[in-house]
Amino acid sequence: MTETALTVQQTARPTGFPTADHFRFVESALPEPAPGELLVENLYWSVDPYHRSMMDGEFALGAPLEGRTLGRVLESRDPAYSTGDLVFHRAGWRTHSAVPAGQVRRIEQFEGVPLSAHLGILGGTGLTAYVGLTRIARLKEGEDVFVSAAAGGVGTATGRLARLLGAGRLVGSAGSAAKVKYLTEEVGYDAAFDYHDGPAADLLAKAAPDGIDLFVDNVGGEQLGAAVGALRRYGRVVRIGTIGQYNKAALAPVPVDLSEIVEKSLRMEGFLVSDYRSLQDELYAFVVPHLRSGRVRSDETVVDGFGRIVEAFLGMLRGENLGKIIVRG
Ligand SMILES: NC(=O)c1ccc[n+]([C@@H]2O[C@H](COP(=O)([O-])OP(=O)(O)OC[C@H]3O[C@@H](n4cnc5c(N)ncnc54)[C@H](OP(=O)(O)O)[C@@H]3O)[C@@H](O)[C@H]2O)c1
Repeated sequence: MTETALTVQQTARPTGFPTADHFRFVESALPEPAPGELLVENLYWSVDPYHRSMMDGEFALGAPLEGRTLGRVLESRDPAYSTGDLVFHRAGWRTHSAVPAGQVRRIEQFEGVPLSAHLGILGGTGLTAYVGLTRIARLKEGEDVFVSAAAGGVGTATGRLARLLGAGRLVGSAGSAAKVKYLTEEVGYDAAFDYHDGPAADLLAKAAPDGIDLFVDNVGGEQLGAAVGALRRYGRVVRIGTIGQYNKAALAPVPVDLSEIVEKSLRMEGFLVSDYRSLQDELYAFVVPHLRSGRVRSDETVVDGFGRIVEAFLGMLRGENLGKIIVRG
């Protein structure tokens, strides 16, 4: 067992795009679990777009950051857990965490399914995609779907789950030609475009000439305006995230023609996955058989080494990930 722990702290508030200088690694003795706590050696870390928003205020400066993590119990001071148990918790961005047992969830290992999938398609990422399609959009068979940031964690999971749920034409947008190729060749999208290649409305009109029924929006901005224009009657916009503005110091106006919301009887609804944790078992029941059969995979970019967690986070903000970005210790 290593004798020291490494923890990432934020040192300053960024304006616009953060850099490695906004973080530092701090070495300390291993944390001591109090009664009712577990000492967990963390194995996999999730770095997420919402961490960028937290850097603006919710992350305290000079304190350990928080993030979704999978680890192995090294020492248990709670009767419900034993040494060696695999657990999920939120005290991430550090190699070791002392976590109250009540804030930990035991990880069920499914044969043939990699552990990291619990931070990808089986974790909050997959649950976000699942809730967006089944509860917010209430996707019906044959409906045509457009997804922005389609090659990321939520975007790839949305594509794969939409296919399983019987979607019609699936169109995605992403930030590079390699991602566009991956979407159509690997994930099952029928068409995809690089949003850098021209006005979003033109690119979408080419990829979905007959329009769309549903827009799963991870980005906001110009693509949201284009999608509202392309939606058919009774279409829905599922607002999942706004990564297009997280690194902008000032917000640009969103070019949405609001009259279309009325004239086409559209519905736009956002949600936070944290309100849908009760659907975790439903997600397992739906996805695990397909993961085992190989019909679906958890699309992931795995970055090796806890020491690269900041680099992985910044790379994700720049679009360097394909699928969910995960750091492996
Ligand atoms: N509502 C919820 O509860 C919930 C839960 C999880 C995630 N989310 C949201 O879902 C979205 C995706 O999250 P994720 O974890 O799956 O991350 P992700 O998509 O795996 O990674 C972020 C991706 O965003 C794209 N991006 C970055 N800047 C962009 C810009 N200016 N315009 C367009 N695309 C940009 C990049 O890909 P490109 O190369 O394609 O640009 C990057 O790979 C985020 O908005 C996040 O906040 C919401």
